[in-house]
Amino acid sequence: MNPIRIGVIGTGSISECHLNAYASNSQAVITAICDVNEARARQAAAKYGADKIYTDYRELLANPDIDAVSICTWNNTHAPISIAALEAGKHVLVEKPLSRTLDEAFAIEKAVRASGKLLQVGFVRRYDPNVKMLRAFAEQGEFGEIYYAKASTLRRLGNPGGWFADVERSGGGPLIDIGVHVIDLCWYLMGRPKVKTISANTYKKLGNRSNIEHLSSYKSADYDATKNTVEDLANAIIRFENGASLMVDVSFTLHAKQDEGAVKLYGDKGSFEIDPAIAIVTEKHNTILNIQPQTDSTAGFAGQPAFDSEVNHFIDCIANGTKPISPVEDGVEMMKILCGIYESAAKGEEIRL
Ligand SMILES: NC(=O)c1ccc[n+]([C@@H]2O[C@H](COP(=O)([O-])OP(=O)(O)OC[C@H]3O[C@@H](n4cnc5c(N)ncnc54)[C@H](O)[C@@H]3O)[C@@H](O)[C@H]2O)c1
Repeated sequence: MNPIRIGVIGTGSISECHLNAYASNSQAVITAICDVNEARARQAAAKYGADKIYTDYRELLANPDIDAVSICTWNNTHAPISIAALEAGKHVLVEKPLSRTLDEAFAIEKAVRASGKLLQVGFVRRYDPNVKMLRAFAEQGEFGEIYYAKASTLRRLGNPGGWFADVERSGGGPLIDIGVHVIDLCWYLMGRPKVKTISANTYKKLGNRSNIEHLSSYKSADYDATKNTVEDLANAIIRFENGASLMVDVSFTLHAKQDEGAVKLYGDKGSFEIDPAIAIVTEKHNTILNIQPQTDSTAGFAGQPAFDSEVNHFIDCIANGTKPISPVEDGVEMMKILCGIYESAAKGEEIRL
């Protein structure tokens, strides 16, 4: 089989995870790199052996020697770059969130249909080895009907600044950046139920707290703390048409004692946890059992191995013409939920989808 020739667009923090994964996939060849910051593009190209360097993604897309692209740029560029890539006949792996708005998400979906090319949304947590293992349990009915879930990522100090903190470029704060991962994980593992209502709140009380000393945190490639137009905290209760519900809270900053994450799903036969660590809870012979699956790690997110699994799946889908497990439709549904949360918070009331 001919190798699949890859272009990576955007060479900030997360691109490393994509590039490492392509570098270790024997069917993929890293052919081209693009970043508006030429020095950053050059550095990545040198490290990963790419022949071509671009500062304009349109020039990369015009190169007929590229089969597929990873889009690792600011959220406001996901829609224009994805659409242009599909129109240029490339397959697309686009980082989460799919877009900033629902209109952008629909435009991407339309372009996928028109082009017949594949688009995989970078919901990397779906590809984590422990998540795949727990999903197999859920699919076999081990937990029964999952009727309640909790999705929480609370950073006490973690506004990455730069574009992440500029609502024009990001589309929002912790909800759209880190909330998307845990909301998607719960929704996916609950069997993608249809949303009925959303009641949500957002708060902007603490700012980015760039004054804090003695504690380091994740920062965007072009860190700048002077602008902050995103929420600090969002919470929501999502009710699904099948009667199930999902409770969410996420923050970039909060007066919390420590960072906390919870991804927990409860069914009528048992439950399972992904964050802060994997676990299964069930009942047998009138006894509650807390079960510890024996896997390489108890972490709910393995990091690079999850990106390897995501990229390997992308390459497999291209090679075999199959639909990815995180297709554009799921990216669109997630945008409905995220935008619904912002809409409910702005209106100060429950909304019906
Ligand atoms: N899956 C995950 O766990 C995860 C983690 C972090 C970020 N992300 C997502 O990845 C994307 C990038 O995040 P990051 O943390 O790497 O940000 P970053 O700020 O570190 O890097 C973004 C890079 O994109 C470049 N860029 C911006 N617009 C461009 C354009 N039009 N053409 C070419 N290059 C452009 C910037 O110059 C920069 O080098 C975001 O969508 C973010 O939500 C995903």
